Amino acid sequence: MQVLIYPSYEALSVAAAEVIAEVVATKPDAVLGLATGSTPRALYKELIRMHKDEGLDFSHVRTFNLDEYVGLTAEHDQSYHYFMHENLFKHINVNPQNIHIPSGTTHNYPAFCQWYEDRIEECGGIDVQLLGIGSDGHIAFNEPGSSLGSRTRIKTLAEQTIDDNARFFKSKDDVPIYAITMGVGTILEADKLVLLASGDGKAKAIADAIEGPISAMCTASSLQLHPDSLFFIDGAAAGNLEMRSYYEWIQAKMPGAPHPD
Ligand code: PGA
Repeated sequence: MQVLIYPSYEALSVAAAEVIAEVVATKPDAVLGLATGSTPRALYKELIRMHKDEGLDFSHVRTFNLDEYVGLTAEHDQSYHYFMHENLFKHINVNPQNIHIPSGTTHNYPAFCQWYEDRIEECGGIDVQLLGIGSDGHIAFNEPGSSLGSRTRIKTLAEQTIDDNARFFKSKDDVPIYAITMGVGTILEADKLVLLASGDGKAKAIADAIEGPISAMCTASSLQLHPDSLFFIDGAAAGNLEMRSYYEWIQAKMPGAPHPD
């Protein structure tokens, strides 16, 4: 695990975008696991800038999103289909046939979930998976109590998540109760995991994920089991980390880190 602490949300987003861009540059048909929510927006902005200014090429990239609300059509402005189109896909040269987002409107969820898992495998597995973290420590919609071996399936959202996401809807009653989500086990099979967190609202979840016990009560703590997981966080999100100065020391000593004056 690498814990990388940046002075701002913009700085952590640019640094994490560089990791994704590096994967795409070295493997043009890379399989990217993508995330929604407010946190990855600046990272997507940076990828779009790299595409436009530096020619970062997405034409052979395959993408898989983590989750989608059940019951929202792809056209609904709070669906994750819509989010991805608006915040990334329509601005880059990704082939629409290479985009995979869980369906929120299928009639047979178990069959769809199995197809999604099979499709990830057919594409050779996910090279790098982007993740946010919920204030309750969830990754994707793997709420507290989700099995750490879980696969793509339907989950009932926790009340905390409904409260957190109500800001995007007209009212709390409009927030869907169910979502289709990759499982923790699915996520852990990606070659590399990149988790982003910003703000003091995430400080407890980040401390639980990095320094707490590995537990289904904080599904982000499962990243402790992964051989290549990176946490890109700002100072506020790092606020509850007991070992913060140690992580900062490691970060300062990394090859390529700026030398102190
Ligand atoms: P946020 O959501 O980026 O909107 O804070 C993160 C998450 O719930 O995974």
